[in-house]
Amino acid sequence: MFDFIHITDLHILPAGETNYGLDPAERLRMAVESIALRHGPGSSTPAEFVIVTGDLTHHGQPEAYAQLRTILEGLPMPFHLMLGNHDEREHFRAAFPEQGFDADGFVQQVIETDVGLFILLDTKTAGTHAGALCEKRLAWLAARLAESEGPFFLFLHHPPMPVGISRMDRIQLVNPADLAAVLAPHQPRIRHMFHGHLHRPLAGSWRGIPFSSIRGTAHQVALDLSEGETAPGSHEPAAYALVRVTEDAVIVHSHDYLDQTGSFDL
Ligand SMILES: [Fe+2]
Repeated sequence: MFDFIHITDLHILPAGETNYGLDPAERLRMAVESIALRHGPGSSTPAEFVIVTGDLTHHGQPEAYAQLRTILEGLPMPFHLMLGNHDEREHFRAAFPEQGFDADGFVQQVIETDVGLFILLDTKTAGTHAGALCEKRLAWLAARLAESEGPFFLFLHHPPMPVGISRMDRIQLVNPADLAAVLAPHQPRIRHMFHGHLHRPLAGSWRGIPFSSIRGTAHQVALDLSEGETAPGSHEPAAYALVRVTEDAVIVHSHDYLDQTGSFDL
């Protein structure tokens, strides 16, 4: 059994700034407090680490990454960070030089765990909110897969498939067929794919690969499948996920960590 935490789309701003009427830093601080309390060392369900699937910041400023670092240092377990369309790679690198980078400077890494490899991809593409995996990043992925044999888990900010929310579908991963081609020879080994970007709880499968995403810790995207020019925003509850991996299952528990209704004996 292996437990970890999936968080996404933090959209952190420099200290004191708000966005859509919310303070994303305060929202993240509350997530960190909840995770430390419920999943820190010594808790009933300790998590090995936290993975954040991108949009760490809203505008990518150095001050926002500094603010992010201050908040995440409250986590009692390691955290692994990824980039989203709202991030800036160089500013991220300056603030988090100890995080995982590949030889080309992309924020890509492989984490070896008792349940398989966790492969974190960088789909950030300058000048667009859409995502892409260029030849270099795909070659890195292919090489990592070629040198391993066991099960693996895939993490990327942009989903490789349209989900029906038109404004978000226009900024999905633009080259899903290229990713699929790299994955195809290894498909039996893929246990699960995690993504962010949509700010929504979502689960399904893509080309036979099971996937899930969760709400962000700040603003959300509404369930609105009508055609539109702008993304439908919402203030649905913020969430993170406790993910439990066992020998034959991957369980994703979404947790609305701001919910105050409490629990009781049924
Ligand atoms: Fe986002």
